Amino acid sequence: TDPTPSLKEVFKKDFAIGTALNTQQIEEKDPGAGLLIPAQFEAVTPENIMKAALLQPEWNRYNFELADKLVAYAERHHLKVNAHTLIWHSQLPRYMYRMSSTDSVRQFLHDHITTVAGRYDGKVYSWDVVNEALNEDGTMRKSVFQQKLGDDFVVEAFRIAQQAAPHTKLYYNDYNIEQPAKRAGAIALIKKIQAAGVRIDGVGIQGHWSVDHIPFEQIEKSIQEFSSLGIEVMFTELDISVLPAPKNVVGADISQNAAYNEKINPYAGGLPDSMQNKLASGYEALFRLFLKYDKQISRITFWGVDDGQSWLNDWPVRGRTNYPLLFDRQFKPKPAFYKVIEAGRQQ
Ligand code: G3I
Repeated sequence: TDPTPSLKEVFKKDFAIGTALNTQQIEEKDPGAGLLIPAQFEAVTPENIMKAALLQPEWNRYNFELADKLVAYAERHHLKVNAHTLIWHSQLPRYMYRMSSTDSVRQFLHDHITTVAGRYDGKVYSWDVVNEALNEDGTMRKSVFQQKLGDDFVVEAFRIAQQAAPHTKLYYNDYNIEQPAKRAGAIALIKKIQAAGVRIDGVGIQGHWSVDHIPFEQIEKSIQEFSSLGIEVMFTELDISVLPAPKNVVGADISQNAAYNEKINPYAGGLPDSMQNKLASGYEALFRLFLKYDKQISRITFWGVDDGQSWLNDWPVRGRTNYPLLFDRQFKPKPAFYKVIEAGRQQ
């Protein structure tokens, strides 16, 4: 038996440690991850099953089967649920992409949030009410919601959520909002919600980073600036890719092209020690920074339990072998895990 303490024990004094769960894990069909989840984590986020496409596949017809299973799973294992996500431009039901009337979009916004957040109020700890509403330059993304309802759809979404889910924490969640321009956009958005007298409890910085460019300086500034708004700061989808990020290839299948494969999937046979150590140092430095702000940060959630499960094996091209998490494909703790634990114990 391994005498090393767990992530959730070591960081109990600082912040909650969470993980995303996929369907197999929620249905307890992944025995390897199944042992790690309650042992290492105290919070869980559904990676996909609480998104609108799955919860309301047809207009006004909801399917709560998997979401209810998740809540039951979390109860059985004493895990907090950070629900994800009510309003997002992606993974929407198909009818939403064809919706042309403003009234229908407004009705979806109202009914979806009221029904879903209402059902789980008191059962989940938090909701990512709005996800990824911003462009990289800090302007509003032209989603179906923004196009039909204008920029104020974000305030409206939080207003409806506050009504429907008075006992649930309400968060704004986005990626790259540690970067200056996008961060300024997020701050303006949060201030607008607050100025409208509507409740927002926190901001989630997703934290999908690359081992070569972890933006430590911007992360630190973001923690300071977001927390000065009087809200919780969280890192909600943490993973660190070790692979190059080829452009303009989203969704391409590399399995047919050996030469290309070699270049963009260099570690199919295993991660060399040098990269393993680089990843471990990156995670260590990141957690030392997080610990410096343990009063401001309420939660760190990894986007998956083990490397085999990570979405980064399939993005931006399918069929790669990435190593972005703390547990390997055999569910064993990696050097990065031990470095993170060490950082937590020294604090
Ligand atoms: O379940 C179907 C399966 O039946 C089908 O055969 C297969 C064929 O493609 O697709 C499966 O669905 C996939 C689903 O993940 C479950 O694996 C979808 O195609 C795929 O698009 C979906 O990807 C998810 C992605 O969001 C969608 O945009 C990733 O798992 C999930 O990790 C990712 O999570 C997002 C956060 O919600 C928001 N922030 C960014 C983050 C990473 O993109």
